[in-house]
Amino acid sequence: MLPLVLIKHLSLYNSQKVKIKGWAYNHRSSGKVSFVEVRDGSGFVQGVFEGDKDLPIAKIISELTQECVVEIEGVVTKHFKLPDTYELQLEGISILSPSPNYPIARKEHGVDFLLGLRHLWLRSPKQWAIQRIRDQLIRSCFNFFNEHDFIKIDSPIIGPVACEGTTTLFDINYFDLGKAYLSQSGQLYLEAAIFSHGRVFDFGPVFRAEKSNTRKHLIEFWMLDAEMAFVDHQENMNLQEKFCKRLLKDVLSFCQKELSLLKRETTALEKARDLPFIRKSYTEIIELIKNKNGPSISYGEDFGAEHESFLSELFDLPLFIEKWPTHIKAFYMKQDPNNPDLVLGADLMASEGFGELIGGSQREDDYDQLLKKMKHEKMPLEDFQWYLDLRKYGSCVHSGFGIGLERMIYWVCGLEHIRESIPFPRLYTRNRP
Ligand code: 4AD
Ligand code: MG
Repeated sequence: MLPLVLIKHLSLYNSQKVKIKGWAYNHRSSGKVSFVEVRDGSGFVQGVFEGDKDLPIAKIISELTQECVVEIEGVVTKHFKLPDTYELQLEGISILSPSPNYPIARKEHGVDFLLGLRHLWLRSPKQWAIQRIRDQLIRSCFNFFNEHDFIKIDSPIIGPVACEGTTTLFDINYFDLGKAYLSQSGQLYLEAAIFSHGRVFDFGPVFRAEKSNTRKHLIEFWMLDAEMAFVDHQENMNLQEKFCKRLLKDVLSFCQKELSLLKRETTALEKARDLPFIRKSYTEIIELIKNKNGPSISYGEDFGAEHESFLSELFDLPLFIEKWPTHIKAFYMKQDPNNPDLVLGADLMASEGFGELIGGSQREDDYDQLLKKMKHEKMPLEDFQWYLDLRKYGSCVHSGFGIGLERMIYWVCGLEHIRESIPFPRLYTRNRP
């Protein structure tokens, strides 16, 4: 019996005869040599057959259709030119399952067509690479937080209140209890959990009813929130920076093959891994945009895509923008003790114009201050009583942040649009397949 091996393990079987099962995604012949390219999920391999076109193996290869399942066997050899690449010198091939008229041809297709066939599009090498990088990033997130004394706490998806303002809330009918909402972020619940565990994180799907089509917005995306007791605004940014550097380090070390499949030029990522991030206040950034004749903006406004690209040309490193005007940030951010019109919050912008990666802040831990702000924003106090309780029974300085996983993938992979970063994107105008 020949061993059935995964393509990614072929280097362990150099010069040995093995068997592989997978999908044939391409084949060709030139003169007396036939080639078949096979994918098994773990990687890609080329099977080579040298022999007359009339021989059975050459004939089967010539009749393969894209995506049919094959079993191939042969001796593993090192590619004569490409490093770390192995081939199979074919001694046998059989078709295990047919695939007539596969709708995605090996040519350029429109994005709408491909999104409609997302269940099949996921098989293409570029999409394969993106999902492998996604998997690495998730693993690196969990490893990082475990190594830094956090535990994972699962926050609920259905709740009675908004975390990030009411304009992007999805509502559902919750039996006799009336309206409930899909979570925009688990932050508020994580805040409760720090009083039990000190340092916690969650990771799960969140929902934003963003009624617009942009390159950076998904309706459903995966957020990782982290929350820490006895950590202030500056220390919060320090941890975020360390965390991002770790993600970059891991992807650059472990996903070289995927990055090169994506033709990702990685200089900016390496720079972000190795050099300190830039830190500027909101006020400094507004002045800078004005002084350098950037896109128009007035003090008190949020930045748009044009400002983000402008800033990324000024600084070719990730940029923390901190100390925002109170009225454009969420109710829970702590007032700056040096200026009551500002909050101790920061957004982290990726380099290369990929926009916001992280939103974070020190939290308002003073009961009266928080109550005042919530009243000012006319929030439903009865639904937030539990959150106010946290400021009553052993309140403490605490901070946290949330990263949108897909924003990180969007940047690391250098994608045109965030939709390819998630297996089945939910967009303003598309919710299927
Ligand atoms: O800046 P946001 O809204 O912050 C929060 O939700 C905080 N409660 C997080 C916290 O402090 N625990 O969202 C956090 C991040 C953004 O920086 C961005 O990366 C991502 O979530 N994000 C989106 N990603 C994809 N599509 C969208 N529509 C997104 N909205 C936010
Ligand atoms: Mg934000």
